[in-house]
Amino acid sequence: MSLQPDTNAQVHAPFGAVRISEHVYWVGAIDWRLRDFHGYATERGTTYNAYLVMGEKITLIDAVKAPFRHELLARIASVVEPSKIDYIISNHAEMDHTGCLPEIIAATRPEKVFASPNGVKALREHFRMSLELTEVQDGMTLDLGGLHFTFVETRMLHWPDSMFTWLAEDRVLFSNDAFGMHLASSERFADEHPDWLLEHEAAKYYANILLPYSSLVLKLADKLRALDLPLAIIAPDHGPIWRDNYGKILDLYGRWAAGAPSRKAVVIYDTMWESTAMMAESLCEGLTGAGATVTLLPLAVTPRSNVATELLDAGALLVGSPTLNNGLFPTVADVLTYLKGLKRQRLVGAAFGSYGWSGEAVAQIIETLHAMKIEVFGDGVRVKYVPDADALTQCYALGAMVAERITQQKES
Ligand code: FEO
Repeated sequence: MSLQPDTNAQVHAPFGAVRISEHVYWVGAIDWRLRDFHGYATERGTTYNAYLVMGEKITLIDAVKAPFRHELLARIASVVEPSKIDYIISNHAEMDHTGCLPEIIAATRPEKVFASPNGVKALREHFRMSLELTEVQDGMTLDLGGLHFTFVETRMLHWPDSMFTWLAEDRVLFSNDAFGMHLASSERFADEHPDWLLEHEAAKYYANILLPYSSLVLKLADKLRALDLPLAIIAPDHGPIWRDNYGKILDLYGRWAAGAPSRKAVVIYDTMWESTAMMAESLCEGLTGAGATVTLLPLAVTPRSNVATELLDAGALLVGSPTLNNGLFPTVADVLTYLKGLKRQRLVGAAFGSYGWSGEAVAQIIETLHAMKIEVFGDGVRVKYVPDADALTQCYALGAMVAERITQQKES
């Protein structure tokens, strides 16, 4: 559950801005308490980044989630009176970046609010009120008070309206959700965090938000290379800002988007009376014994978004479920529905589970894996009530078969 700040409070902390380049200040909000971002487990909270660009004219890039509008305004006010803002650029219409936009427009009365053509439509369809919005086209450059902003449409990364804005003078790419992560922290820059944390949280973000659009990520990389925009900083809308080490996140995106095969297997399961758990452990032994690396995730204690993260660099997905009321156990159905939407490519899979009398779950898992375009090994292993030694040997053998398949693939 997400705990939100008291939006009625009239007295606020003395929020400050952080200068990130000659003309640009970070003026976003830190959501230390967020633990669920529309179904994505955010164990480390998040930030909603917004940026103030101080030229002869003043431009705000993106806003924040509605309950944090006071924090945004206070951070802006630490640099300049908010009513001095001349322009707003909205790179992405999702509410975590626009929830307070109508109020910010009302408070600042900018000359113009810019968005992509799809962004203009999406903002109108969100707020259902009269908003003066100006479309900017892909590749267009605007001179706003002596500073030059170029707009790059990034459709379906991850919404139809998404775009990047590049500030030529400071060589800053404002990348909205791309290259971001859900990480609340007192540090604003990526190089102030350990590499393992950056890679983990960025991978989680990619796996849960951008993975279905990996082919577009590869095309965007080509587009950015062709545009040849000099970069000093990548400033996303969540998490830390990339400066000298921005090459790291570009490399990681290239690797994740390519989705190369790997010898890692992810085994997920839930269990009622430990039978399916015993089967899962035997599968793991078979996988490990035949040379795979294994991550075993009991779904009773594993958020769906953590499963997606583990699967990002995996070559196999093995799914176990008891049969409950002629169907899948609810946690298994939940995760499969979620993973199906994320469209992870190039996986092999298998199914297993115990049952009492009807035993439909294994066939239902296989049907879903086929729908996910996963290559499935055989009919899986079904066990009535409690597995005996022979059944556990079958599980071991299935694990070994999957391991042999994925270890023969070219390593990522
Ligand atoms: Fe961070 Fe797609 O919103």
